[in-house]
Amino acid sequence: MVEDGQIGEDDPIGAAEALIETGRANEAAQALRARIAAGRGGLLARLTLVRALAAAGLTGEALAEAREAVSLNPGAAVAVLALGEALLAAELLPAAIAELQRVLRLDRNMDIARLHLAEAWLKAGEAGQALNMLQTLEPSPDTERLEQVARAMLAARRSDAGYVRHLFDQFAGAFDSHMVGHLGYAGPQILLDLAGLVMPALMDPAGAQLSVLDLGCGTGLAGVVFRPLAARLDGIDLSPRMIEKAGERQIYDHLAVADLETALADPGPALLAAYDLILAADTFVYLGDLSGVLAGAAARLAPGGFLLFTVEAGPDDGYDLGPKRRWRHGEAYLRSAAEAAGFSVVGLVAAATRFDAGQPVPGFAVALMR
Ligand SMILES: C[S@@+](CC[C@H](N)C(=O)[O-])C[C@H]1O[C@@H](n2cnc3c(N)ncnc32)[C@H](O)[C@@H]1O
Repeated sequence: MVEDGQIGEDDPIGAAEALIETGRANEAAQALRARIAAGRGGLLARLTLVRALAAAGLTGEALAEAREAVSLNPGAAVAVLALGEALLAAELLPAAIAELQRVLRLDRNMDIARLHLAEAWLKAGEAGQALNMLQTLEPSPDTERLEQVARAMLAARRSDAGYVRHLFDQFAGAFDSHMVGHLGYAGPQILLDLAGLVMPALMDPAGAQLSVLDLGCGTGLAGVVFRPLAARLDGIDLSPRMIEKAGERQIYDHLAVADLETALADPGPALLAAYDLILAADTFVYLGDLSGVLAGAAARLAPGGFLLFTVEAGPDDGYDLGPKRRWRHGEAYLRSAAEAAGFSVVGLVAAATRFDAGQPVPGFAVALMR
């Protein structure tokens, strides 16, 4: 029997589960914690506590409890499974994948770990891996749903606009400190250094001369670096929250919430018909096929104008979707796509704009001239 956060003595786990099922996960967690603290909770009680905390949205606490359960029961596949699930809920994807693989080493029949593993691969942008894993499972509504997402990701040639908007709307508040402080992000400075090499005559130290369009301007980190060169600086971004942050800097003449491919094709009254310089710092990682954006940028540049952008390095003559759902582009692909859009490649250098897990992420900084 379940009453006001008490859990029944005859079947405490069943009672806690009933609380979770009826939307009273916080009460279940409280009661289970009390039981464990009184020395009356075994592994099952701990795992139910993890489930209750996760259901209550207390992701960090669920993770801590799951770690504790594994440290007390290192050989128990169910405990490692709970840890994998908690890591997945916390979006700590490499760790989640490692723990879910450990579950399968402990118990190769645990299909639920395979299903979570497919989900983790998908979230990490590894649709091919996810699909391989799903194909080892009996078809079910869950496998079919994940398979559909994986196939759509494999077929897509750019990141979904809704996904990008949601991601950056969530991230906007912490973006600057996370990117610059945590990931050592240097995309804007890398592009400025490249501009110094390929267009020195246009970088008039005496004053702001250029009309500049910042594609995927985010919070305006590239705007800050390029503003001294600009007579006019415009920015577009899919994420309203990022645009809000960019606006707070008061360095842009015009800001618009827009998809960059659509805006380049049809700029509307807010943007100029042609710019001297178009920037895209760490933005094309959300586009796979660059042919549309390169054609669009060529159409929005004055003759002799420049497009400067960074990308992450991918398969030489193509592009693929890497971990963290960021697209990666190869050098031969970049050169041929640029030339097909009518650009001359005036600079293409290896450049890591950020670090991941302490390692520089290989990439390119590219300068194209119309
Ligand atoms: C990693 S942030 C980089 C922001 C900024 N350029 C910088 O250097 O700090 C990528 C930005 O590109 C934007 N973005 C991605 N795809 C876009 C698209 N198709 N159209 C417009 N903005 C896009 C995102 O919303 C995000 O603000």
